[in-house]
Amino acid sequence: MKYAIGCDHAGFGMKEAIKSEFDKWGEDLLDCGTHGSGAVDYPDYGRAVAERVAKGECERGILICGTGIGMSIVANRYAGVRAALCFNEEMAELSRQHNDANILVLPGRCIPIGQAVKMVRRWMTTPFEEGRHSRRVQKMEQGSATD
Ligand code: RB5
Repeated sequence: MKYAIGCDHAGFGMKEAIKSEFDKWGEDLLDCGTHGSGAVDYPDYGRAVAERVAKGECERGILICGTGIGMSIVANRYAGVRAALCFNEEMAELSRQHNDANILVLPGRCIPIGQAVKMVRRWMTTPFEEGRHSRRVQKMEQGSATD
């Protein structure tokens, strides 16, 4: 599976730590930036990852900003993207089991890096449960109220 990752300056350290783990896990990760700790605008990096997931160039994505809120708002504007802002391992697992989340959003300023790494691994290894959740995910994909 191919993953994309992106962050702003508030998520840079966490992104670098997650990248190192991907190397150890032998998983394919495309780094969409940012590539330093200087201040940048989170929509530029949220868009880079969400577009790749929406187009199918990457199957899954990870986004990090200070709270995770900005990245969530950006990513969920893209059709087919189901971005889940999670704060702990249980939420990360449930976002896969119940919501088939294809982007994990992490709050870089609100949780420890070690916890974020555990959340990423749990999220990567948890399958969608399907069943009744498939119907609910299909309803989410039916379009927005303004279509
Ligand atoms: C950057 O200061 C901060 O606003 C951003 O990382 C994020 O928390 C926005 O939602």
